[in-house]
Amino acid sequence: MILTEIDHVAIAVHDLEAAIAYYEQAFGAQVHHRETVDSDGVEEALLKVADSYIQLTAATRPDSPIAKHLEKRGEGLHHIGYRVDDCQAAMDAMIAAGARPIDQAPRPGSRGTTVAFIHPKGSFGTLIELVEE
Ligand code: CO
Repeated sequence: MILTEIDHVAIAVHDLEAAIAYYEQAFGAQVHHRETVDSDGVEEALLKVADSYIQLTAATRPDSPIAKHLEKRGEGLHHIGYRVDDCQAAMDAMIAAGARPIDQAPRPGSRGTTVAFIHPKGSFGTLIELVEE
């Protein structure tokens, strides 16, 4: 099995502070990590759940993929991040199985990870992110 863990479940939200406050109040969650990824136009907050994270994600500019998702589909599940030992090898295996890459090669993600996104078309409707720590 190439996938070693669910790294994170990413949820697109309009208001990051409101979403964090909700998770804090409802679940006693604490923000483990916060980061703005300028290249992706997103600001994210990671809330730890065992060895995985809920990743609350908001847009920082109108042309970011999260802004487009919010406009088209509203708030909610955006992608699943699967942890892998080798992002390139996992990507190659998915492409060989018929998946369509969004990233042409692994690239830097948040928390110092290496990531690659795979298109939902070709993966049964789920945007998949491969995450190598
Ligand atoms: Co992600």
